[in-house]
Amino acid sequence: MESRTQKHALLVIYVVVLSILTTSTNGGTIVPIFIFGDSTLDVGTNNHVANCSSRADHPYNGIDYPGSQATGRFSNGLNTADTIVQLLGGYDLSPLPYLSLVEDGSNFTRGIFNGVNFASGGAGLGKLTVQQFATVQGNITALLGKSKGDCLLQKSMYIFSVGSNDIMEYSLTYPRIMTPEQFVINLTDTYAIHLKNLYSMGARKFGILSIPPIGCCPAARFASPNGTCINELNDLARACHASFESLMKNMSCTLEGFKYSLANTYNMTMSVINQKIGFKDVVSACCADNSPFGLSECLKGVHLCKYRDDYLFWDKFHPTQKASKLAAAVVVSSQDPAFVSPINFGSLRKA
Ligand SMILES: *[C@@H]1O[C@H](CO)[C@@H](O)[C@H](O)[C@H]1NC(C)=O
Ligand SMILES: *[C@@H]1O[C@H](CO)[C@@H](O)[C@H](O)[C@H]1NC(C)=O
Ligand SMILES: *[C@@H]1O[C@H](CO)[C@@H](O)[C@H](O)[C@H]1NC(C)=O
Ligand SMILES: *[C@@H]1O[C@H](CO)[C@@H](O)[C@H](O)[C@H]1NC(C)=O
Ligand SMILES: *[C@@H]1O[C@H](CO)[C@@H](O)[C@H](O)[C@H]1NC(C)=O
Ligand SMILES: *[C@@H]1O[C@H](CO)[C@@H](O)[C@H](O)[C@H]1NC(C)=O
Ligand SMILES: *[C@@H]1O[C@H](CO)[C@@H](O)[C@H](O)[C@H]1NC(C)=O
Repeated sequence: MESRTQKHALLVIYVVVLSILTTSTNGGTIVPIFIFGDSTLDVGTNNHVANCSSRADHPYNGIDYPGSQATGRFSNGLNTADTIVQLLGGYDLSPLPYLSLVEDGSNFTRGIFNGVNFASGGAGLGKLTVQQFATVQGNITALLGKSKGDCLLQKSMYIFSVGSNDIMEYSLTYPRIMTPEQFVINLTDTYAIHLKNLYSMGARKFGILSIPPIGCCPAARFASPNGTCINELNDLARACHASFESLMKNMSCTLEGFKYSLANTYNMTMSVINQKIGFKDVVSACCADNSPFGLSECLKGVHLCKYRDDYLFWDKFHPTQKASKLAAAVVVSSQDPAFVSPINFGSLRKA
């Protein structure tokens, strides 16, 4: 009896020590990663936004997440924010959403030193705000002092994935208020404003995921008369990539210490679609019903595919966990400039 109690006590001590060790590696020594963008990187921000229609905190989302929890990720499991930070090291999952840290104030100070996820489903460059980051920057500087705070923010990494919603909105709005060329310039100028704001607050290392071939997502194919990709959307995505690339080159020439990695999500996804590498189905959504108005949201009761890892697309817009893992591996480690340049995210992290 006594020895069982002792064993039990030892086990408790072991667990406590282990959790302290885990907390200190996660809480003290990692250099933060800050995440900005849309639903591809949202890990639950929109659960905290009243009346927000773009939410994923319901099944079947999360069906392959630990405990089959629907956390707000638009995925069957992890999303690209999780898979990228895991490979960059020091993280099991994406940093927590800013709004969840604010809501549970007790976690705020510890949380922000682990990085913060500001991404929100439905966000576009037009509506993106770096105001929340300004608060976090102020808090870090207040807690560490100016010189240590600035140093930490300069070593931190800032990851972006945004622009798809702007293209969708532009191409669905009539009459057009801009030509496609003006639209791309407008979007690039808007990106420049956000990046310069962050730079002025101390950010130096920018990891940019450019816009995927949204004309090939299941929602777009469903709307196209013969089920092929919608070229207009893909043309805009490619034009944006070229323009963002020019912007990043210019910024790294004009802003001292500005470093970047630009992932060509368009080429990455297209090479998977064209060669079907790793997937049996690169066309349809794993979770959605056909309806006369288009594909449905991923909700409980709609069609759900059995083998999620066979699919590139989880729902009508978003990749599966498997696709996110594959994308992260390329973005973090690939040496192929057709996919990520001038350096990969892994090298940027260490730069
Ligand atoms: C949310 O919707 C409810 C019911 O339609 C409405 O009463 C409330 O004002 C809305 N809240 C916000 C923040 O828009
Ligand atoms: C508080 O932070 C810890 C560690 O960062 C995390 O595991 C936990 O889920 C957070 N709590 C809430 C309510 O977000
Ligand atoms: C963070 O900064 C904001 C804005 O300055 C302030 O209102 C808030 O109290 C700060 N939070 C902490 C935990 O210091
Ligand atoms: C982009 O276009 C919108 C809509 O016309 C305009 O409000 C905004 O100021 C433009 N942004 C830039 C950076 O030019
Ligand atoms: C599909 O439809 C589009 C637009 O109507 C057309 O441009 C394209 O050639 C068609 N593709 C095939 C394979 O039929
Ligand atoms: C980058 O700089 C070149 C040369 O000054 C200019 O022509 C180009 O428009 C700039 N590109 C962007 C996206 O600002
Ligand atoms: C993207 O792929 C196309 C076709 O494979 C290739 O021609 C192009 O150079 C690639 N883009 C970049 C930036 O490498």
